[in-house]
Amino acid sequence: MSKLIGNAIFGQSGGPTSVINASAAGVFTEALRQTGVIEKVYGAANGIVGILNEKFYDMGQEDPAELELLKTTPSSALGSCRYKLADLKDDDTDYKRLLEVFKKHNIRYFFYNGGNDSMDTCNKISKLLQQSGYECRVIGVPKTIDNDLFGTDHCPGFASAAKYIATTTMEVYLDARVYDTGMITVIEIMGRHAGWLTASAALAAHKGHGPDLIYLPEVDFDIDKMLADVKKVYAKESKVIIAVSEGVQTKEGKFIPELVGEVAVDAFGHKQLGGTATVLANYLKKEIGCKVRGIELSLMQRCAAHLASKTDVDESFLAGQTAVRCAVDGMTDYMVGFQRAEGSEYKCEIKLIKLDDVANTESKVPLEWINDEGNFVNEKFIEYALPLIQGESEVAIEDGLPRFAKLKKVLAV
Ligand code: F6P
Repeated sequence: MSKLIGNAIFGQSGGPTSVINASAAGVFTEALRQTGVIEKVYGAANGIVGILNEKFYDMGQEDPAELELLKTTPSSALGSCRYKLADLKDDDTDYKRLLEVFKKHNIRYFFYNGGNDSMDTCNKISKLLQQSGYECRVIGVPKTIDNDLFGTDHCPGFASAAKYIATTTMEVYLDARVYDTGMITVIEIMGRHAGWLTASAALAAHKGHGPDLIYLPEVDFDIDKMLADVKKVYAKESKVIIAVSEGVQTKEGKFIPELVGEVAVDAFGHKQLGGTATVLANYLKKEIGCKVRGIELSLMQRCAAHLASKTDVDESFLAGQTAVRCAVDGMTDYMVGFQRAEGSEYKCEIKLIKLDDVANTESKVPLEWINDEGNFVNEKFIEYALPLIQGESEVAIEDGLPRFAKLKKVLAV
């Protein structure tokens, strides 16, 4: 494979995670090391939008110590986007513009960090570059708390969110049973179409401080059945904790907030979720009459860097670093993924997955991991998730508060 000399660009896309910047640190530190091959290393402002607008940062001007701090800094340091590229056959405007920008800045390496929609974007760009004959190596870097990317054992970002969800559920469990009166708590967890994150509340139950009921989007949600489930636990315990995914839908395909009103839609046609806990809490209050609290974990579950899994931080960094190494070695049109090694001890190996295979295919919680009643997960999930949340990330502290990375963000153009 011939040596490809030129510049590299990295973009972050979709909802952030608490470890997404660890992948950025992996990409940047490795790309900056590849002198003689990669000349300039750019960070796109707001993902693909920054490339279209020719707004990118010169990462070579950043202080290496700040790049190191990215490993423990949550949210997308470069800014993110939810921008959908049209299909090339329908509208080639963006594609022409992208090619123009890539050529103008001699971009020969493109790394895109995101979930399903972002891998679709990455795949479209990869195919455009191939068809146009412009040599540029494209590698997707996985990221999503939803854990629903196809072909990989798990996705960077999931484990840290799972650790936060399990820990917070354990803490809420203790708080929600202090009074001698009845109480129902509904905890709403993210995950638009897949229940991996909500299932993580079972890790709290595994430690004896978890929910009584877990509802995932993999199973049609029946509000009458949920009420019967809740009444059963309440009659016995007078305390009930419910973990529910924001993505549960009735068999008619309605999300819970849609039962009481309209919801907004984003560029990808995804409905803006959130509000499920409040709707269900109000409903249970009306039906059962005891004290009820709805808790939406909302953004906290995806930016809680103080509770990140060290395993996740390290693997996220590795994913970014590997993307650069693979591209420099001549690989293109792949996403970096993980494969769990055989054996009782957890070991994660790298695998590469064709972008064509990964784009727009969602991976869900296997139905055999969900109980027959559709209101909890079994031991299989615990075996899967427990190794991923191991280890504590060491966030730098200054004045008793986290010291997050401060990038100079020097504009390259
Ligand atoms: O990226 C995945 C995700 O975190 C989903 O779990 C959630 O539904 C969605 O993003 C929220 O997106 P936004 O930040 O655009 O509201």
